[in-house]
Amino acid sequence: MTNEERSNGSWSGQLGFLLAAAGSSIGLGNIWRFPYMTGMNGGGAFVLIYLLVVLLIGVPLMMAEIALGRAAGSNPVKAFSRMAPAKSSRTAALSGLILGGGILLLIFNNPAGAVILFLLAVLFATLGWKTVGLFCGIVPVILLSYYGVIGGWTLIYIFDSIRGANGFTTIEGAEKVMGPILHATEGRGPAVVAAQLIFMALCLGISISGVRKGVERWCKMLMPLLFLLMCVLIVRGLTLPGAEKGLRFFLQPDFSKLSTGTVIAAVGQALFTLSLGMGIMLTYGCYLDRSANIAKAAVGVIALDTFAAVMAGVAIFPAVFAMGFSESGGPDLTFKVLPAAFNLVPGGLGILWNVIFFLILMIAAVTSAVSLLEPPVSILEGECGMSRRNAVVLVTLVCSVLGIFCALSMADWNQLPGAGKLIKSIWYGTAPGSFFETLDGFCCNWILPLLGLVTALYTGWVWGSRYALMELREGGKGALDNNIWLIISGFDAEDGGMDRRYLFTPGILWGAALRWIVPILLLLAFFNCIGLIRF
Ligand code: TRP
Repeated sequence: MTNEERSNGSWSGQLGFLLAAAGSSIGLGNIWRFPYMTGMNGGGAFVLIYLLVVLLIGVPLMMAEIALGRAAGSNPVKAFSRMAPAKSSRTAALSGLILGGGILLLIFNNPAGAVILFLLAVLFATLGWKTVGLFCGIVPVILLSYYGVIGGWTLIYIFDSIRGANGFTTIEGAEKVMGPILHATEGRGPAVVAAQLIFMALCLGISISGVRKGVERWCKMLMPLLFLLMCVLIVRGLTLPGAEKGLRFFLQPDFSKLSTGTVIAAVGQALFTLSLGMGIMLTYGCYLDRSANIAKAAVGVIALDTFAAVMAGVAIFPAVFAMGFSESGGPDLTFKVLPAAFNLVPGGLGILWNVIFFLILMIAAVTSAVSLLEPPVSILEGECGMSRRNAVVLVTLVCSVLGIFCALSMADWNQLPGAGKLIKSIWYGTAPGSFFETLDGFCCNWILPLLGLVTALYTGWVWGSRYALMELREGGKGALDNNIWLIISGFDAEDGGMDRRYLFTPGILWGAALRWIVPILLLLAFFNCIGLIRF
């Protein structure tokens, strides 16, 4: 790594990386999405499938992203052109394939999808693998623009809870509070936009001080605080009479609810919650020291993330069920059901529980949002020669402006006489949902599995799993090359005179997963999402 690239900072050590990466991965995905997905998909049975998916896809992919970033020692655009020639006969063949896919979509009456694929084919033919790096710069900006809106909602809820405006105890009451926020009606529009901008300003403030002095320092303070606050809520929830009903709903396996759809849901959830498939871990990996153990770091981040998700469920469901809100485990959970349940908790401390919960949600969201700034910022720094300061300001500005559209996209446009009709006809004439929903669907259904797939293929086949393994070995202390049976049994190679290198090792398993298991599973998930196959 050259000094010029080092100058954008590096982690102070393995712990700094671990907490920053955990800060990125622990977010709305854990506290808002995971609990209700689990509740709706068979409780403990879903958790089991999810853990399997994390093991099969999450661990190998996270290791690949970090290794790719550290080996390249640079931003995603360089990472995807340094490990192998950016353009080759393979990229030409691939753009042909994408073109074919576009034609197929055209035949199957999906012109919008076809246009996207045609554009992609052209990009790929001209830029080669750099296209992937470019996407790592653009997609986080899109994701952050609506992530920031939800971040703003958490701020509004904290503020409203403190001033006593969130005292509702029924779902109808919650509807009256959340509805105007969601649709930016009844005079709530300015507050929603202001909150989103404040949230983005917080991210800017953290990110602008650099990787070590900003991102790492804040994650080191905020992540322990998050776990501590979560413990407070868990103790409160579990000591409520009737709490065990909630625990049962969350964790008791109901295998009758399992289907192939569950597996696909688990794949999407795993990618989102682990911040994979967008070059985040890749960028974080490039600030990582060569002496750090990548495999251990990846497993550590994933363990923390999963732990946080299960903790969130244990904090949420006992309170929800103890207060009699049994059937409401959907996406509404966080912003409607939970505050109502907290307000009903005996002792009249509803405000306190609500403030603690939305503080947790905000902390989780901020540290994740900050990580979304990192790939575009590192690309602007490395490819356009911008200073970190300017890059952070520019990216935050773009996200904030896009975010305003998101925040207002579900607005009741009839409020704007004249112009409202026009906006409505332009927007809803072209897209089935709001701007917000379109961006969310685009990022999570299309880009995450696709970029995850390409990252796995690139590392496994183009860079080559054997070279990638060499990167992992640095700082890896040989554990990757030990025979798995030897590890499990506690023997050493000398015990049986076995050659420990060429047997069944974690490193070999990793290569196989990266080349075959991850791509196949992600491709299936992607085809399912775009409706090409239905399970
Ligand atoms: N992982 C975060 C969450 O659980 C969200 C997030 C941050 C993310 N960076 C990402 C999701 C990159 C996908 C890709 O909320």
